[in-house]
Amino acid sequence: MLSWLLLSAIIAKSVVGAKIQTNATCTVSAFFNNNSLGQSVCLIGAYLNSVCEGTHLEEGLLPGRFYEPQASCMCNTVSYNVWSACAYCQNGPWLSWPDWSSQCSNRGIAPQEGFPYALPFGFATPHWAYYNYSGNVNDTRWNTSIPHALGGT
Ligand SMILES: *[C@@H]1O[C@H](CO)[C@@H](O)[C@H](O)[C@H]1NC(C)=O
Ligand SMILES: *[C@@H]1O[C@H](CO)[C@@H](O)[C@H](O)[C@H]1NC(C)=O
Ligand SMILES: *[C@@H]1O[C@H](CO)[C@@H](O)[C@H](O)[C@H]1NC(C)=O
Ligand SMILES: *[C@@H]1O[C@H](CO)[C@@H](O)[C@H](O)[C@H]1NC(C)=O
Ligand SMILES: *[C@@H]1O[C@H](CO)[C@@H](O)[C@H](O)[C@H]1NC(C)=O
Repeated sequence: MLSWLLLSAIIAKSVVGAKIQTNATCTVSAFFNNNSLGQSVCLIGAYLNSVCEGTHLEEGLLPGRFYEPQASCMCNTVSYNVWSACAYCQNGPWLSWPDWSSQCSNRGIAPQEGFPYALPFGFATPHWAYYNYSGNVNDTRWNTSIPHALGGT
């Protein structure tokens, strides 16, 4: 698929001492956009990425682009769920879990269920981010029903 060649995460390199932040703007309104602390789902993604990237500035999704698991700490279902929701709220496309996780396995990083690191301090991960995809041969793509079914924080 040509689109595969166009896949690109828009991840700026961390700046020492910078605050964890995002300039991604949610244009599609959904109840899961913000957690109980008023943090946007894209900011939650930036926090998750900060585990392996340090302080992290996450840019918005450019038209036609996808978020991809460029950082090793994105190779898990929690990051996949959060970045998919972040793409959705920007009215952007998102990958299926097999597409996301195969990019990790192709780089020799085993995709994990759950978030296999200590969570960074100062934010709340929504319940729906812990949805696992193993054993779901026919439903392997994040969708808006998952947050509705599992709830936020
Ligand atoms: C949701 O988060 C965004 C970005 O942090 C913020 O601008 C907005 O005010 C928040 N909305 C609510 C209802 O907390
Ligand atoms: C986010 O910030 C970066 C760096 O300042 C900028 O290049 C990019 O256009 C911004 N994206 C959005 C969606 O505002
Ligand atoms: C997903 O898998 C991880 C790792 O096996 C586990 O800790 C977590 O409880 C699972 N989540 C759900 C909702 O089953
Ligand atoms: C997945 O879909 C195929 C084709 O529709 C079906 O035969 C199979 O039973 C489904 N598997 C599960 C686990 O639902
Ligand atoms: C959403 O995803 C879940 C889990 O994969 C699946 O069971 C459900 O059928 C999907 N819903 C829609 C509307 O695609």
